[in-house]
Amino acid sequence: MRVRLSSLNLLSTWLWLPLTFAMWPFPPKRFKGNALLGAGSLGLDTDGRVVALGDFNGDQFLDMVSVGSDQQTLTIHLWDHERFIYRTSTVLKHNQLIVNVVPGDFTQSGRLDLLVMSQSPSSNGQLDLSLYRAADGGGLETTPISLPPSSESQPIPFDSTGDLRIDLLGISPSPHDQESFSVWKNVWNASQPNSIVYELTRTTMEGLQCKPSNPHSHAVVDLDGDCLADVILICDDGNTGGKVFQIWINQKDSGFKLQQSGKLPAGTQSISFADVDRDGTIDMVFATCSSVSRSTGLGNDCYVNIAYNKQLPLCASTTSPRFRNDRRICRAPEELCIGDPNFTFDLSEGPGNNAFVRVSIEELVPTPGGSTPQLLVLDTTYDPPLPVPLKIGDLNLDGFVDIVPIIATQPPGGRSKLAKTPKILGSVACRKGVAGCGPDGKGRRGWSVLGRDNNILEEFLDARGVVLVDIDEDGTLDILVQRTGEQGQGNVMFVQNNFYYDAFFLKAIVLNGGCPSGWCSTANGSRFHPFGVSYSGATYKYTVLDTTGKRAAAAVAQLPQTAYQSLLTPYSFIGLGRTNNYIENFFVGSTKHHDEHFINMEGVVPNSKVVIVPPADDSQRTEWRKELYLRPGEWIPLVTLTVVIATVLLASIVLVLHLNEKREDERERRKVSHHINFDAL
Ligand SMILES: *[C@@H]1O[C@H](CO)[C@@H](O)[C@H](O)[C@H]1NC(C)=O
Ligand SMILES: *[C@@H]1O[C@H](CO)[C@@H](O)[C@H](O)[C@H]1NC(C)=O
Ligand SMILES: *[C@@H]1O[C@H](CO)[C@@H](O)[C@H](O)[C@H]1NC(C)=O
Repeated sequence: MRVRLSSLNLLSTWLWLPLTFAMWPFPPKRFKGNALLGAGSLGLDTDGRVVALGDFNGDQFLDMVSVGSDQQTLTIHLWDHERFIYRTSTVLKHNQLIVNVVPGDFTQSGRLDLLVMSQSPSSNGQLDLSLYRAADGGGLETTPISLPPSSESQPIPFDSTGDLRIDLLGISPSPHDQESFSVWKNVWNASQPNSIVYELTRTTMEGLQCKPSNPHSHAVVDLDGDCLADVILICDDGNTGGKVFQIWINQKDSGFKLQQSGKLPAGTQSISFADVDRDGTIDMVFATCSSVSRSTGLGNDCYVNIAYNKQLPLCASTTSPRFRNDRRICRAPEELCIGDPNFTFDLSEGPGNNAFVRVSIEELVPTPGGSTPQLLVLDTTYDPPLPVPLKIGDLNLDGFVDIVPIIATQPPGGRSKLAKTPKILGSVACRKGVAGCGPDGKGRRGWSVLGRDNNILEEFLDARGVVLVDIDEDGTLDILVQRTGEQGQGNVMFVQNNFYYDAFFLKAIVLNGGCPSGWCSTANGSRFHPFGVSYSGATYKYTVLDTTGKRAAAAVAQLPQTAYQSLLTPYSFIGLGRTNNYIENFFVGSTKHHDEHFINMEGVVPNSKVVIVPPADDSQRTEWRKELYLRPGEWIPLVTLTVVIATVLLASIVLVLHLNEKREDERERRKVSHHINFDAL
C-alpha cells in the first residue's frame, strides 16, 4: 500500500509541472542580472541635490526632499510604488539660503514636518530655524513658523525630557552663550491656536565646557549598552587645534552625565556610528587625513579608523556564569539591555590595543598604475561645504556593515580631472593579507573592495555624495549617488543592488508615540496611520544564531545623526546574515524615562518590517504597540497553490484507500459471520 501511495504522489507532481509553467502568475522582473545595476534618476530630476529622507505620506515607502541649485527651492518627491518612480509633490521656495533640512514630527501630529536651517542674512554666524508644518490635506503649509535661532554649529534633535518629542541641543547665538549648550525645549500645544514650538532653556548638562566643531558629528546613540540613547559631542580643542569627544550618558530624569571624554586623532573628519564587529556595541568609524584641500575637498594621506567600543560581551553560552566575584562579566542573550558604566573607547595607537584599527586608503583601495588615491571628505559644491562621512550599511546582508567611501584617483587615460568614484569596502572575516587585519591574520574585521566586476559604480567619475536607501522597500540596500553633473548625466542616480543574497534582513522603526491608537484623524474626520514619524534615539539590540549555531549580538541605532545633511534613513535597515531561525531576542529601546524603557520581542520573523509605537502617556502600564509587516516572497502564491493541491490529492487518496479498506473489512466480517453461522448449523 505504501508503494502505491508514493508512486501516485510522484505521478501527481509530474502531472502538475507543465500546468505550473502554463499559468506563471508573475510580471517580468524589473531588473535582470546578478549585479549592481544603474536605475537612472527614477523621476527624481533635480538640478541640486537630495538633502533629506522621510516618509511624508505615511505609505511606508521612503520619500525624498531635494534642494535646487539656488539653495532655496525645496521639493518633496513622493515614491510611487505602482509606477516605480518619484512623483514631485510639494514645491516651496524658502526665503534664505538653506543649510540643512531635518524632517520630523515636531508637533506629534502623526505627519512629518520640515525643520529648515538657513543662513541668516542679518548677522554673521547665525542660523535661522524655520518649521514648515504638515498641512492637513497632505503636503506642507507654505508659511513657516520661525524658531529661536542657533549659532552656525547646527543643533541636533534629541529627546531631553523622555516624552518622545523632538527637542534640539545646540548653541544659542548670543555672545555670552558661545561655549555652553542650550536646549530648545518642545512646548508645542496643539489645543492652543498660536502655540509656540520651542522655548530656549539652559541644559542640565552640568559642567559642559565645549566649543562644538563646525561641522561636527554629534550623535544621539546608545554607547553604554543600556538601550537608552546617550549623546556624544564633538568639540574643538582650543589648545591643540584638534578635536575632542565627550560622551554624556542618559540618566533619564537625572539628566545627562559626562562619562568619558578624550582626544580624537589628528585630522579627524566626520564620525559615523555602527556596530562594526557585531558584538552588540556601537563603534565609531571615521577618516583621518593629514591635509584636506579647501577647494576640492579631497584629503591626502587618509586612513579609515575604527574605534571599537569596549564593554561587557555577550555570554559565550546560555549556561556560562554571568558573574565572577560579584562582578558582572557578560550579558546573557535575554538581558542585552544592561548598561555597562565601564565602557570605553581606547583611541591610543600601539600593538597592545586591538580596539583601535587604522587602515590607509592606499591599502584599502589599491589603484592600478601606482597613483595615490585620495578620499573625498568635503563637498565643496555646496555653500558652506558639506562634510562627506563614510557611509555605513550592510549591502550584502551578511550581518556585518560595509563602508562606502568616495575615492578620487587619476584616471589612466590621462584625463586631467580626477575621477571621484564610490567604492564598497566589504566587511570580511580576518585572515592573512586582508586589509585591516594584523600581519598574523588576526583582528576583528577586514576590508576588501566588493564587486570589482559587474559594478556600475566604476562608471561614476563625478560623485559627491552617497546615500544608502532601499528603493521600493524590496529588502536590499541600494545606493543613491549624488553627482556634480560634470559627466553630463544628471545630479542624482540610483543604483539597484540586484545581487542575490542567501541571507535575511529586517527593518525596524520606532514611532514618536503620536496617535497612540495607531490612527490619526484630520480636521474633517479622515483617518491615516502615522507610519512616517520616526525620531532620533531609538535603539535596537538583538541576537541571532548563524547556520553553525553560533550566537551573535548586534546593536543598531535609529537615525543617530541629522546635521549637515547626513542623509540617514528614518528606519534602521538591519542585515541578519544567514540564519536558520527567528530572531531570538529583539530588544527595542526608546528614550522614555520609564523604569523599563525597552521591550523584548521574541521570535521576530526575518524579512519583515517591524513598527513599534511606545506608549505616549506616562503611565507605565500602557502597552507598547508592535506591528509586523511581512514582505511576501514572490513564490508565496505558487507555494500555497501547490500545498493546497497536494493536500487535496493526498486527501482523496486516503479517502479511496479508506473506503477500500472499509469494504474489505465488511467483506471479511461477513465471511467470518458466515463461517460462524455455518458452524452453528
Ligand atoms: C478630508 O480631507 C482630505 C484632504 O483634504 C481628503 O482627501 C478627504 O477626502 C477628506 N475626507 C472627507 C470625509 O471629507
Ligand atoms: C494646552 O493648552 C490648553 C488650552 O490653553 C490648556 O488647557 C492645556 O493645559 C495645555 N496643555 C499643556 C500640556 O500645557
Ligand atoms: C566598573 O569598574 C569598577 C572599578 O574597576 C568596579 O568596581 C565596578 O564593579 C565595575 N562595574 C561593572 C558593572 O563592571
